[in-house]
Amino acid sequence: MQKRILSGITPSSAKGLHLGNYLGAVKPHIEFQDKGDCFYFIANLHALNNVFDPEEVYKNTMNIYIEYLAFGLDPDKTTFYIQSDINSIPYLQTIINNSVTVAELKRMHAYKDKLQNDISQDAINFGLFSYPVLMSADILIFKPDVIPVGEDQAQHVEICRNIARTFNNRYGNILKVPELYVKKEVSRVPGIDGQRKMSKSLGNDIPIFAPEEVVKKQIMSVTTDPARIHPTDPGDPDKNVAFTYLSLLGYNENTLEDMKERYRKGTIGDVEIKKTLLIFFLEYFADMRKRKEELRHDMDCILELRKKGAESANVIAEKTLEEVKKAVGVA
Ligand code: TRP
Repeated sequence: MQKRILSGITPSSAKGLHLGNYLGAVKPHIEFQDKGDCFYFIANLHALNNVFDPEEVYKNTMNIYIEYLAFGLDPDKTTFYIQSDINSIPYLQTIINNSVTVAELKRMHAYKDKLQNDISQDAINFGLFSYPVLMSADILIFKPDVIPVGEDQAQHVEICRNIARTFNNRYGNILKVPELYVKKEVSRVPGIDGQRKMSKSLGNDIPIFAPEEVVKKQIMSVTTDPARIHPTDPGDPDKNVAFTYLSLLGYNENTLEDMKERYRKGTIGDVEIKKTLLIFFLEYFADMRKRKEELRHDMDCILELRKKGAESANVIAEKTLEEVKKAVGVA
């Protein structure tokens, strides 16, 4: 039997997916489609803790849904759905709320990070505080074997495992305790500042589906070795993040080594390297960019896919919920 793999993405930005999302999440997700029984979803209920404009919530959700399809998500191979179409998820959350303590939730990064910015813990909305419980419900309802996520989500998968164990200790072996899978090398793609993780909120991202001028602007401003003033100065390739991206995208290794050697010697300019990256990037994503444009104009097809995805996901989710309701005595 193939392993069941589940992962989700929160549609919290209108800017769509960037290179970090692609390399760290989407690409491995797409590759897993041939290796396992995959469940992927757009976690739009999670977006509600910080996006309060309904139109924006809707637009972001559908945009990322379409981008996943453009990247090669195949709805014939994968169960692909939108979280809010699965009513049993928040229902399960209500039940498993009783299998976690306030103290455990207070240790979660998302909450602690928010505390750093916000003045008072009492002012934090409860959706943000209970977000790891909703995430646990997202997972446990489908009884997956493996959850592939970025490092930043590892703690949430751990709390999900604890919730499942606490629940099972009380009610018998009902929920599956899933495994966490963190792909370290790619889960921290650096931003164009070369320092912090790529993130749309920091503005250090390279968006994949943005107009060419926007992609160009970001790529032409990637960080290079600051000690290098003239193209003839010797440089350190590790300090030029364009090399990192070329390597992560699978640019020809020999050519890349050659360019790095010239960089060390000072016989290649930064502009040439950035241009190479720009051309390679646009070529790499050309088909996906084109496909998104096509899909965007075929909303009937998209809405039909949404409906079908929800239908197959609901069959499984409702079965788990029935078991859980019986186990706790509310069936
Ligand atoms: N919290 C995840 C993120 O921000 C998205 C997510 C929601 C998720 N539910 C999930 C990921 C369940 C894996 C499994 O990226």
